[in-house]
Amino acid sequence: MYLELSADEVLTTTRAVRKRLDLNRPIERSVLLECTDIAFQAPTGSNAQGWHFLFVEDPDKKRQLADLYGQGFDPYVNGPAREYAPGDIRAQRAEFVRGSAMHLREVFHEVPVLLIPLMLGRPEGADSFGQASMWGSIIPAVWSFMLAARERGLGSAWTTLHLPFEREAAELLGIDHTLWTQVGLFPVAHTIGTDFQRAPRLDTAELVSFDTFGSQ
Ligand SMILES: Cc1cc2nc3c(=O)[nH]c(=O)nc-3n(C[C@H](O)[C@H](O)[C@H](O)COP(=O)(O)O)c2cc1C
Repeated sequence: MYLELSADEVLTTTRAVRKRLDLNRPIERSVLLECTDIAFQAPTGSNAQGWHFLFVEDPDKKRQLADLYGQGFDPYVNGPAREYAPGDIRAQRAEFVRGSAMHLREVFHEVPVLLIPLMLGRPEGADSFGQASMWGSIIPAVWSFMLAARERGLGSAWTTLHLPFEREAAELLGIDHTLWTQVGLFPVAHTIGTDFQRAPRLDTAELVSFDTFGSQ
């Protein structure tokens, strides 16, 4: 199924989907492969293409990954909340994001497919050029996957809170942790409804300058 959204619609309505993940509808592998094929059109430094997408469908492995996520999530969500000035839209959204994130934490193991994108190499010890080149060679592909998924009625959410337990996840999934870096843990499901909206954001004009940083 294609939603036939415009490019701008896809770019502005691909949200972090948590409460509207359809836990009961399986996903055909062909759709995952189609989204991945689009994702792998993304740029990479020196055209190195050091990427691999690992999809997890096995219920036992999903349960164990969800447990690792929970071990990272629980202390984070119960830790001190970020503080914003009164009226800041991020403060207004915080409770919504928190409730949505708590829901995903509870149902993570029930999501039909979990995706772990991998990049070749380890960022530890790399200088800023090396790190920027590594992350910059995988993040465009992952975001493209999410955009392609949106056009096909699928949703996901970028999550990173299983990464304190990256080694345990690597062992579970047969990943050589010395060679590959996990980028995150992405629930993938059909969405419940397809009418997603633009999100409120900080004022673009205040976050842009020309010629001199901070000039308006
Ligand atoms: C690097 C990164 C890490 C994130 N980690 C998590 C996470 O661990 N758990 C979660 O529920 N959401 C996570 N998110 C999703 C953000 O909370 C979400 O993108 C943000 O609230 C904005 O919502 P939107 O994407 O719908 O506009 C992460 C997003 C990014 C980009």
